[in-house]
Amino acid sequence: KLPVIIDCDPGHDDAVMLMLAVGSGLFDIKAITTSAGNQTQEKTLKNALKILSLLKADIPVYKGCEKPLFRQLIIADYVHGEEGMDGPILPEPDKQPEQLPAIQAIAKILTESDEKVTLVPTGPLTNIATFLLAYPHLKHKIERISLMGGGAFRGNITPNAEFNIYVDPEAASIVFNAGVPITMCGLDVTHKALVFQEDIERFRSAGNRTGTVIAELMDFFSIFYRKERSELEGGAALHDPCAIAWLIDPSMFQSKPCYVDVETSGKLTTGTTVVDFFDVLKKTPNTEFVYDIDREKYINLIYDSIRGLP
Ligand code: BDR
Ligand code: CA
Repeated sequence: KLPVIIDCDPGHDDAVMLMLAVGSGLFDIKAITTSAGNQTQEKTLKNALKILSLLKADIPVYKGCEKPLFRQLIIADYVHGEEGMDGPILPEPDKQPEQLPAIQAIAKILTESDEKVTLVPTGPLTNIATFLLAYPHLKHKIERISLMGGGAFRGNITPNAEFNIYVDPEAASIVFNAGVPITMCGLDVTHKALVFQEDIERFRSAGNRTGTVIAELMDFFSIFYRKERSELEGGAALHDPCAIAWLIDPSMFQSKPCYVDVETSGKLTTGTTVVDFFDVLKKTPNTEFVYDIDREKYINLIYDSIRGLP
């Protein structure tokens, strides 16, 4: 099993990402750390605990940073609702977060692990950047960072910038410049990783509670997409599970090694991932830039993975 630490801000698509990660059975999930993004840290932490309680997954959860490195927190309640994961009625979590702060937990796990560990961030990169700043000597224990964030050819919070990067661009800049191999599943691919009504009905009829919860999450999530992203023709962009699906089966995707950096001080473009797709700069690529996906395979992978869950 591939050892991973997942850093997320659930979040509807983060929740599905967690279900895929657990349900696939292919990962040794050493920890889940939570980021502030879709909602406040307090809420994303609680949501992560709720999902793990639902999945009956015994994975330690650690609380991450409450604010971006230098900026005020921006949340996406306009997509994810008041609690950050609105839609299904989930019971109070039967788990508590661990005492250790997320950054120290990542350091402890990496120090103690004999193998390198893959980091999977699907929210703003505040925790990962803080970890890299505080423990640079542990960088060599990171196998890869497979993240959801950014976009070469589109944005969703500004015309150019994607939410996770825009919330904490300085953190993203630290991560992309860390010298660790990165896989970037940005909007170029995630706006093709669409879930349609018929997929939602398939999840609903999977016969387990997790299937019902995914369907109820996607019912709520789709409201925003149908209203604000009519270009996607009724589909909702199921962003975050791409970062896990790429680790499971990269052949489902198309990608290209590229040099990527992050704009932190643009007049119009703050938070943009600048992807050198045509290798104009002739710099050594730091990122596997993912731009296309076999959508049917992706939905099937999620469906097959969640069927064995509670
Ligand atoms: C990203 O922002 C969040 O709203 C989603 O969970 C995803 O990680 C998409 O821009
Ligand atoms: Ca997310």
